[in-house]
Amino acid sequence: MTSIEVVLGDIARQQVDAIVTAANESLLGGGGVDGAIHRAAGPRLAQAGAAIAPCDPGDAKFTPAFDLNPPVRYVIHTVGPVWEGGGYGEADILASCYRRSLQVADELQARTVAFPAIATGVYGYPPDDAASIAVNTIRSTPTAVRGILLVAFDEENRDLLAAALGDDTGAQGKDRRR
Ligand code: APR
Repeated sequence: MTSIEVVLGDIARQQVDAIVTAANESLLGGGGVDGAIHRAAGPRLAQAGAAIAPCDPGDAKFTPAFDLNPPVRYVIHTVGPVWEGGGYGEADILASCYRRSLQVADELQARTVAFPAIATGVYGYPPDDAASIAVNTIRSTPTAVRGILLVAFDEENRDLLAAALGDDTGAQGKDRRR
């Protein structure tokens, strides 16, 4: 059974096996959540990213987590869609980010994974639609991952993600149906 929980906070401080970052195709790091994770993991993360770049939108690749504190062992780099109005396959690309990240997590035998609200910052994806895509894709993707954290950095995304989890959640946004 896979639990899905919404938390409000800094993804770089989550105690999970693998942290997903919302990267760009170069995997060299950037601002937003990618910047926070690269700062916490140290300069080796960008070096390792460069060695496996580019990462196509919707794909996911992994590296070690370097200076991130245990139990984090891996960073899963995924590239979300730049929002251009919704007519360019953005929803499918975003769903693919979650699906591919779970596939990579399974290859790594990661049992706990933290996701940010991919594409809802610089890339401009509407956060309500992004929250629904995140929850629906995770729920419909078979995985051996046992615990999934959806880490919001602001209350709007926290509330949208908790709402997307629907009536199966407790006040803190827990979904234990799967
Ligand atoms: N922990 C969790 N979530 C965070 C953190 C953090 N420390 N910092 C930012 N966020 C949230 C943002 O508030 C947003 O809701 O992550 C979500 C994704 O926003 P971005 O980080 O801007 O990512 P994205 O919209 O996918 O744009 C990716 O931005 O940083 C660059 O290199 C990155 O070019 C890529 C682009």
